[in-house]
Amino acid sequence: MADSHAKMTRTTPMEVVASIVAGLLAPLLAIVLIVMLVLDIRGSQQPDTSGDAAQQAAIERIKPFATLAAVDPTAVVVEKSGQEVYDAACVACHGTGALAAPRFENKADWGSRLGQGYDILVKHAIEGIRNMPPRGGNADLTDTEVARAVAYMANSAGADFKAPEAATPEAAAPAAVVAAKPDPAAGKKIYQNVCAMCHAAGVAGAPKPGDKAAWADRIAQGYPTLYDHALNGIRGMPAKGGNPSLSETDLANAVGYLYTEAGGKL
Ligand code: HEC
Ligand code: HEC
Repeated sequence: MADSHAKMTRTTPMEVVASIVAGLLAPLLAIVLIVMLVLDIRGSQQPDTSGDAAQQAAIERIKPFATLAAVDPTAVVVEKSGQEVYDAACVACHGTGALAAPRFENKADWGSRLGQGYDILVKHAIEGIRNMPPRGGNADLTDTEVARAVAYMANSAGADFKAPEAATPEAAAPAAVVAAKPDPAAGKKIYQNVCAMCHAAGVAGAPKPGDKAAWADRIAQGYPTLYDHALNGIRGMPAKGGNPSLSETDLANAVGYLYTEAGGKL
């Protein structure tokens, strides 16, 4: 007892300092570790969605619904054909007659329904009716896609409906420009400033103006389709010729110039 007492009283100032520092450090270290742990947990719960890997993972998760929309924001959104939509979203019921759905190619099932007319059938397919769920339960389908599937099904059972080509809101705006007749003379200037750099020399296979052979099949697509391809891009042709600031009127005029140069009639 006396011995240990003697030892304690013999504690040097250095030892006192050391023990104070150690006494402070231990809780400090514990706090730092806890903070790091919390940060780490929060970090793993809130993934950095801006990272490439995180975005890739997100795209991977929504792939079945958004393949076209998410992979490349500049890509032209291609809507599915009636048959593609039918095969993906309607066949489950309409192929077998599940829930008394009118069956594909079955004239008796469709007969009286067809009498309602295409528009009403499309409306019912979009909004749902009785056991028919809205959009066949596929909320991601566009109105146009549903309408195409309706035409595909109804036509299989004797109707002669014409499915809409494309009625996306994006397409609606340029359609107004297309409707106003393009001015090829005005378009020539735009062409020289913006389009000639590829089209004059045939860079990357760009069809030269007036080269009727190179344009024949393209002209056959019709002016609105050509305009659409110039607006949205196609293969080596960048959207708006790579000039996002080009107005749609200017673009329409430039396409009009190329179109008429190659013998197309506006
Ligand atoms: C879950 C089953 C189911 C799926 C999936 C489904 N349908 Fe239907 N559909 C029905 C049923 C049941 C009816 C009959 C409803 C009634 O008239 O009572 C019907 C009726 C219809 C009608 C006729 C409506 C009318 O006014 O007579 C159309 C058109 C139609 N479906 C289109 C579609 C399209 C297009 C798809 C795919 C995008 C689809 N359906 C997917 C069950 C389904
Ligand atoms: C960077 C080069 C480049 C520029 C700039 C460019 N084009 Fe093109 N364009 C192409 C290529 C390459 C093609 C052929 C694409 C194909 O069919 O594979 C093409 C094709 C086209 C077509 C035909 C599309 C079809 O469906 O056959 C039109 C119309 C067109 N361009 C209009 C324009 C207009 C208008 C401009 C200027 C506003 C322009 N291009 C600027 C490279 C360019």
